[in-house]
Amino acid sequence: MENPGFGRFFTDHMITLRYTEGTGWHDWKLEARKPLQLDPATMVLHYAPEIFEGLKAYKLPDGGATLFRPEANARRFQKSAERMAMPNLPEELFVESCRALVRADREWIPSAEGASLYLRPFMIGTESALGTRPASDYLFCVIASPVGSYFKAGAPAVTLWTSESFTRAAPGGTGFAKCGGNYAASLAAQAEAQREGCDQVVFLDAVERRWIEELGGMNIFFVFDDGSLQTPPTTTGTILPGITRDSLIKLMKDMGLTVREEPYSIDQWQADAKSGRVVESFACGTAAVVTPIGQVKGRKYGFTIGSGGAGQTTMRLKAALTDIQFGRAADPHNWLDRLF
Ligand code: PLP
Ligand code: COI
Repeated sequence: MENPGFGRFFTDHMITLRYTEGTGWHDWKLEARKPLQLDPATMVLHYAPEIFEGLKAYKLPDGGATLFRPEANARRFQKSAERMAMPNLPEELFVESCRALVRADREWIPSAEGASLYLRPFMIGTESALGTRPASDYLFCVIASPVGSYFKAGAPAVTLWTSESFTRAAPGGTGFAKCGGNYAASLAAQAEAQREGCDQVVFLDAVERRWIEELGGMNIFFVFDDGSLQTPPTTTGTILPGITRDSLIKLMKDMGLTVREEPYSIDQWQADAKSGRVVESFACGTAAVVTPIGQVKGRKYGFTIGSGGAGQTTMRLKAALTDIQFGRAADPHNWLDRLF
């Protein structure tokens, strides 16, 4: 609990809920965490009907605990389900399941600086059949894991790899959905990045291979020398609309900062980093929180952003967000869902 890393340890309980065509959702259970039994023909093992979410429970200064915008995760889960032809899970069932698990496993919320309890709600198609069609039966499950930093603690910034061989999402595909297949498909690129000494891939659009989209599991922001910020728009359907991204945009507006949701090309990023027009860049997500980007590499690219470490605006935004999440600052947007 002092240094849990990310997703290596799990709590004592889980939530399960079943769906059957014709009956709907049934058999909600809070139970001891245990292995799932699946027939080898279970659809998720073959055609991957799987979607998931990620959100955190935070310990508050008074000993209480809170979730952060769980209804936003519930709504994104519904959009992912719709894209994957999976059943709609009512928002209240999603949120109540998360709340119930945190209450049952409250001893597992870490109190180390920056640490939290990561919740992983997911849904899988459980019908046993090999026809390619939507499954008739599903399992919704929530598990939890005490987590610290997603990246190795102490690193001032991450290094990104620009892949020329791989893309993450194409128009009309599943980029905006949080389905396991997107992540499976990103792993060869991630392995390539690691071979090249980088931490994460920055994915470019699949059509022109020019526009910056996002990282394998995080959105991206650029900070300009005039104090303004920019992030790629999610209207293309190829980028996951991050809840951290959305929250940061609202905080930037609260602070009076200018923020644009506009396309930005990799060539422009390189030119702007070299000329000093871009002074900072960062990645953001539930797992990554706000992580400075120090360097970008690729066969055609190589540049350092600012000093290569954590920038001022990045750290100010990180503090603003985490101060709300950990109850150290007021919560003007009512983002906290207090559990006890
Ligand atoms: N992009 C991808 C591909 C992700 O997996 C995530 C993480 O959930 C994000 C962005 C950030 O989303 P959020 O801030 O909702 O965690
Ligand atoms: C999250 O931030 O919740 C994610 O799902 C990203 C993943 C890479 C852990």
